Amino acid sequence: MRCFSCVKFCSKDVENCDDDVASNEVAVTVDERGNVCKDVTDSISGKMFSSQGADVAHSLTFRELAIATQNFKDDNLIGEGGFGSVYKGRLESGKIVAVKQLNLNGGQGNQEFIVEVLMLSLLRHSNLVTLTGYCADGDQRLLVYEYMPLGSLEDHLFDLEPNQEPLDWHTRLKVAVGTARGLEYLHCKANPPVIYRDLKSSNILLDNDFNPKLSDFGLAKLGPVGDNTHVSTRVMGTYGYCAPDYAMSGKLTIKSDIYSFGVVLLELVTGRKAIDMTKKPGEQNLVSWARPFLRDRKKFVQLVDPLLHGRFSARSVHNMVAVTAMCLQEQANFRPLIGDIVVALEYLASQAETFENHKRLTVDSQPSPSKQEEQHARDQST
Ligand SMILES: Nc1ncnc2c1ncn2[C@@H]1O[C@H](COP(=O)(O)OP(=O)(O)OP(=O)(O)O)[C@@H](O)[C@H]1O
Ligand SMILES: [Mg+2]
Repeated sequence: MRCFSCVKFCSKDVENCDDDVASNEVAVTVDERGNVCKDVTDSISGKMFSSQGADVAHSLTFRELAIATQNFKDDNLIGEGGFGSVYKGRLESGKIVAVKQLNLNGGQGNQEFIVEVLMLSLLRHSNLVTLTGYCADGDQRLLVYEYMPLGSLEDHLFDLEPNQEPLDWHTRLKVAVGTARGLEYLHCKANPPVIYRDLKSSNILLDNDFNPKLSDFGLAKLGPVGDNTHVSTRVMGTYGYCAPDYAMSGKLTIKSDIYSFGVVLLELVTGRKAIDMTKKPGEQNLVSWARPFLRDRKKFVQLVDPLLHGRFSARSVHNMVAVTAMCLQEQANFRPLIGDIVVALEYLASQAETFENHKRLTVDSQPSPSKQEEQHARDQST
């Protein structure tokens, strides 16, 4: 395999992301397609990342993780994905973590493990999940992340429990902004850029304040370097989120991520899943169902999640759907760059906050129903 000589991950734009970028610059060898080279894989189970600071991923033994999860007890199971099961655990230090035990399907699972450890060890941003540790004991491959108490965005948008509050409009915008900032870091600030490749609502994890963090970097690729505009790969990702140009050509660009981001925005607006086989034909693929609405500005508001019960500003919805439509352009060149999306969404989120505050002030200055009732009772008695 021909490899580039060492490629360094570092910040391109330090003034804009001082807080977010780790000072550690680690040399990584990658081949021309963005794959991590075998010699690096060998160092994963060694000391490469173990002594660079408190927040750097540590190598943990299988025994430590079995103790942390009470032997992978069913009660501690918090999720299951295509690559394995996720357990809540407590490390000896007392830190609460999420432990993902990978099913190794041949070499592919191992490759994804390696990419995930490398990517998350080298990239640091407040909108990317932190990798606390990893375990490569014998055949076992486990990833240990910071625990995200509110689970994934998917858990808050779809199939809600009867007692579960739907996300309000402002929170949806907040999630959109944080997700866009995470992607902006990958596309514009990591050097070389990173194409995430698996943006979807189940990979957006939420902290207690609904701040989103991107997780699952096993499919991420180092972006094109030099004059190249794309990297060629086997088409991977998740059906329903995958850009049509990438699906057809296998040519991966940063605009493939923008399309997937558009699908997530559409899920936030509509409360519908990217793919939902329980819906009737014609409504199962969200983007195909939404196309006629996205083409006609007068129909934008019809896309909105009925669970919002009209609690949103029509202008805000209008602008959010306009951004969504741009991200979902069939032609990759016409999709916007993530930096411009961040600016647009940040503006919308700040406006939505003002709208919420204004509404709260208006409601507070009205007599509450109970006060009205008291007044009415008093009127009756005089
Ligand atoms: N760090 C974490 N903190 C809390 N919950 C988590 C964490 N990581 C994963 N989860 C939970 O586990 C679930 C499964 O995650 P996982 O990444 O294995 O699969 P997925 O994203 O649903 O699907 P896929 O395998 O296609 O990526 C998530 O949806 C989330 O609810
Ligand atoms: Mg996931």
